[in-house]
Amino acid sequence: MGREFASAAARWFHLTDMPARPVITAVCDKNPTILDWYRTNLPGVNCLTDDYRELLADTEIDAVYVAVPHNLHAEIYSAVLEAGKHLMGEKPFGIDQAANTAINKAVAAHPELLVRCSSEFPFCPAMQRLAAMIEQDVFGRILEVNGAFLHSSDLDPEKPINWKRMIEFNGEYGVMGDLGMHVCHVPFRAGWIPQNVRAILSDIIKERPDGKGNKVPCRTWENATLLCETVNPAGGDTFPMTLKTQRIAPGEKNSWRLEILGTESGVRFSTKNINHLEIFERRGSEQMWHHLDMGHETTFPTITGGIFEFGFSDAILQMWAAYVSELAGVTLGRFASCVTPDETALSHALFTAALRSQAKGTTASLD
Ligand SMILES: NC(=O)c1ccc[n+]([C@@H]2O[C@H](COP(=O)([O-])OP(=O)(O)OC[C@H]3O[C@@H](n4cnc5c(N)ncnc54)[C@H](O)[C@@H]3O)[C@@H](O)[C@H]2O)c1
Repeated sequence: MGREFASAAARWFHLTDMPARPVITAVCDKNPTILDWYRTNLPGVNCLTDDYRELLADTEIDAVYVAVPHNLHAEIYSAVLEAGKHLMGEKPFGIDQAANTAINKAVAAHPELLVRCSSEFPFCPAMQRLAAMIEQDVFGRILEVNGAFLHSSDLDPEKPINWKRMIEFNGEYGVMGDLGMHVCHVPFRAGWIPQNVRAILSDIIKERPDGKGNKVPCRTWENATLLCETVNPAGGDTFPMTLKTQRIAPGEKNSWRLEILGTESGVRFSTKNINHLEIFERRGSEQMWHHLDMGHETTFPTITGGIFEFGFSDAILQMWAAYVSELAGVTLGRFASCVTPDETALSHALFTAALRSQAKGTTASLD
């Protein structure tokens, strides 16, 4: 993800109307091969180090993006803030609830710093159109909301294990830690706060090759389905919200989805068909699904013409445009800004309740 940011910063001129531009002057990574990639591709960088403390000691640096394994979030995010630097962190923003609380304590101690958590899919143009429908409250009484992030990265049982499949680096949340913040971002921003959760978590592949000829235990949850009783602040009604995160979803590569169904209107989006928005309309007793083709109609304007297709790296660029604009003092729309530390705290309350629900086989309330 560090290299994704480097690539977005390198094509910053793609954005036409930005109040500021990120200049990467220092990079830290423990892996010398990755550092070499930065050395080759970012010739202007004057500090390449394997020790983040060296980077944080540089008084010229204003903001730091940290994309490291989850077990390091609390230590490094807190160090960034203590060094007086703005922070873009990665989800899950702490390996567990205790780590998230520690990070958010450091955030509270530095109100002068802008702290956000990365989540790029809401910046797809079709999602921004969907968000406008939430703003306009077009759904009538909300009947249900279904969010999902579906991979098949773990379908092959012979895929060697890596840190994302090890509890000590990835945490007890398993797939929820990796993909959960993504599915929470828009519902939380809409104010749809789960009151309780019934979670079914699946550990499907129990061991994996270690890449050295042996099999080792693989103890992380691969799939998670959370059924949440959720309150709509507009009206106070409750509705069921299902948040699914799966690493073993046959037929899916990297599908991020959101569906909202109400008595008056509905909407569906999936990155599988990234330029396509389905909108439901009720006219009297007639029911209609419309298909809207979206192009490159981005929140932050770019040189790309509106008829052209949008993709993952465009969503990353838009997310960075949001962070940098906010850092430059621009006031952003509700759905055109990055995840806040409070929203990460809510996601941890949800995932921790989900672990309790799974352990007891009952519904768990959010603490
Ligand atoms: N927003 C997204 O769509 C998205 C996608 C993938 C991953 N992520 C998040 O990004 C973070 C990293 O995931 P990734 O897929 O990039 O992992 P990765 O394994 O590809 O990269 C992590 C990097 O951190 C480096 N590293 C490890 N320990 C370090 C240390 N002590 N100091 C400096 N560098 C160190 C590693 O050498 C590696 O290059 C995770 O928090 C993950 O949840 C976000």
